[in-house]
Amino acid sequence: MTPTGKHRPAPRAVTAAVPVAVAALLAAGGPAVAGPVATPAAPARPAPAASATTGAPGAGDPYFPLAGNGGYDVSHYDLTLRYDPGSRRLDGTAVLTARATQPLTRFDLDLKGLKVTGVTVDHARATHRRDGQELLVTPRTALRPGHRFQVTVTYSGTPAPVTDPDGSPDGWIPTDDGAFVAGEPQGAMTWFPANNHPLDKATYDFTLTVPQGHTAVANGVYLGSRTAHGRTTYRWRQSEPMAAYLATATVGRFRVERYTTRDGVQVYNAVDPREAAAAAPVLKQLPSVLDWESRLFGPYPFRAAGAIVDHAPDVGYALETQTRPLYDSAPDLGTLVHESAHQWFGDSVSLTRWQDIWLNEGFATYAEWLYTEQHGGPSAQQEFDALYARPASDGLWAFPPGDPGSGRNIFATPVYARGAMTLHQLRRAVGDRAFLRILRTWAASHRAGHGTTAQFTALAERLSGKDLDGLFRTWLDTRGKPATSRP
Ligand code: ARG
Ligand code: ZN
Repeated sequence: MTPTGKHRPAPRAVTAAVPVAVAALLAAGGPAVAGPVATPAAPARPAPAASATTGAPGAGDPYFPLAGNGGYDVSHYDLTLRYDPGSRRLDGTAVLTARATQPLTRFDLDLKGLKVTGVTVDHARATHRRDGQELLVTPRTALRPGHRFQVTVTYSGTPAPVTDPDGSPDGWIPTDDGAFVAGEPQGAMTWFPANNHPLDKATYDFTLTVPQGHTAVANGVYLGSRTAHGRTTYRWRQSEPMAAYLATATVGRFRVERYTTRDGVQVYNAVDPREAAAAAPVLKQLPSVLDWESRLFGPYPFRAAGAIVDHAPDVGYALETQTRPLYDSAPDLGTLVHESAHQWFGDSVSLTRWQDIWLNEGFATYAEWLYTEQHGGPSAQQEFDALYARPASDGLWAFPPGDPGSGRNIFATPVYARGAMTLHQLRRAVGDRAFLRILRTWAASHRAGHGTTAQFTALAERLSGKDLDGLFRTWLDTRGKPATSRP
């Protein structure tokens, strides 16, 4: 399996703009990979003064300056949505439970498009205003730091995806029989008001109503459905914390399969009939893939699993939507292994900033290599060698995986392939036992939380007892093709 299988984004041509952006970031004293967790202030974000009582419009991520917001932390989203695939109209009510982390006379949510018809804070009508992707909410009385509050937003309209900096569609993507709903990195805000940055994870309840004959599939455990007056309402609960970009509410005319694995994980698969024949042999492997990954990476981090196999030829990628990866067509086995590995690396252990995306994609790609190696295919060393043989002019070496430079490069080849090569070098340097202990400890100690590149490299050094500065500097941080393939 190559690092750029058909279900993941095709390797994108990296333009000359990239090195410039990287250089600019570094010149600006930008983040070194082994540096502190804090990201440099985004230009678009006014530095919140100590006396500020309005929440910042962004979480401070330079790749997506307006993603997320400051001043509060969401613990739960309760989303009640009704979708009509014919008219493409969405009606929604989102109830967010949050806690203020500073005094707040006003705060932002991220919401792009759609019409907001009402906002309340703690059941009192609040005033609101739209400004681009920001929904500015002014509660009737200011919120004190530490105060737990509930925001209710009612909204409706025709949701449309956003176009990511790399040109791919992201968010609520209409299909011929429903919608393919994927949100990495920005698309959550196209269908619900959110604190749209992985820094703020929360639990979710979904109540999704669609015309009878359609199925609405979200994350977590399936709680049941009810049909009345020609409509069916599906209820879902994601009880482990989830980043907003991993939420889905995909709608289609699906065939559904449910079962419980030997480990007690509740599996729910939804498959577009047009993809069913091709998907069946691959989906049959899901329990054994999860089992194999559990033996390698530690216990599967969620109580639910499954897959959504849609027929969405224009999308061009799959996404590791939490507990239930979303495929735009029948996946091959490598893609299933990849999206499943993300459940540990990316979903359970989340990014703190988009620059660290190799912690997701490099790891999921390396899981593919390990799977292939242990199932009679080429070894990880052979995968590494084939990539290392590419000339210095190849896009693989366009930028170092620890520093993609901007949001437009987060799904480009160096993140996936050179990210996986970095892990392979680590494995060669510390040996198989220590390498697997590092991966497992990483998944266990940051489970349901966050991790940074600096924390990963520190863990690798601590568990191996080796100085790995040079290795990580060469493979993660240094531009150009490394001069040697020796670890
Ligand atoms: N994380 C996905 C993967 O498994 C890729 C998502 C691509 N998203 C996008 N908007 N292009 O590799
Ligand atoms: Zn991936």
